[in-house]
Amino acid sequence: MARRRQIYEGKAKIIFEGPEPGTVVQYFKDDATAGNGAKSGTIIGKGVLNNRISEHLMLRLKDVGIPTHFIRRLNMREQLVKEVEIVPLEVVVRNVVAGSLSKRFGLPEGERLPRTLVEYYYKNDELNDPLVSENHIETFQWAHPQELEDMQALALRVNDFLCGLFAAVGITLVDFKLEFGRQWEGDEMRLVLADEISPDNCRLWDARTNEKMDKDRFRRDMGRVEEAYQDVARRLGILPET
Ligand code: C5P
Repeated sequence: MARRRQIYEGKAKIIFEGPEPGTVVQYFKDDATAGNGAKSGTIIGKGVLNNRISEHLMLRLKDVGIPTHFIRRLNMREQLVKEVEIVPLEVVVRNVVAGSLSKRFGLPEGERLPRTLVEYYYKNDELNDPLVSENHIETFQWAHPQELEDMQALALRVNDFLCGLFAAVGITLVDFKLEFGRQWEGDEMRLVLADEISPDNCRLWDARTNEKMDKDRFRRDMGRVEEAYQDVARRLGILPET
């Protein structure tokens, strides 16, 4: 097959031109970064696992009517997705206190929040993706008010569904980050879930022991990172039981 033209290279993925108009190919790398590139390394096999885990979760979400960019997995490291215009926001959904929420408000990690919290961060590496309010988003027109409402409603539906899906395999969904894209069909625009959903952008804790099964193992030098991702894949039924 002819070499595909590269459109964009991110920290964990490369985007190539797709085989048909309106499509692109997402290639999952083993590279890992944390703290906006302050720490970088490789997690052997991560790309393969995230490709499979994200495929699985996107397909389950599609089954329950959540629109996504996912079309099909092409091979071990690549998936075909719809070409979208990425909304420049990271939508973070939290069920349990962890990470930056714990730091910002001095709260102990592991405390269940009284209600699900949705936060928005402006996607900008130079600014370190600052936390922003809905007012900032409307003032700077990063998203239309209706899009903001739709993103929040979709994020909460994704959370409800994924909390149940993970709980069924003994995993607590602590928090996660979503990205949305605008997909154009003629003059019609619709908002779809984009990027990936994997242990790179979710916090997943063993429901019994609270052991971390996600990228925090890399961020905090805890070791056994690949094994944790494999365990997630195994519990979801993607990898065979050993
Ligand atoms: O670091 P923080 O606590 O704000 O992260 C919240 C959630 O969003 C975590 O699950 C983390 O993996 C994810 N996240 C991400 N990409 C970022 C920032 C956070 O996937 N740039």
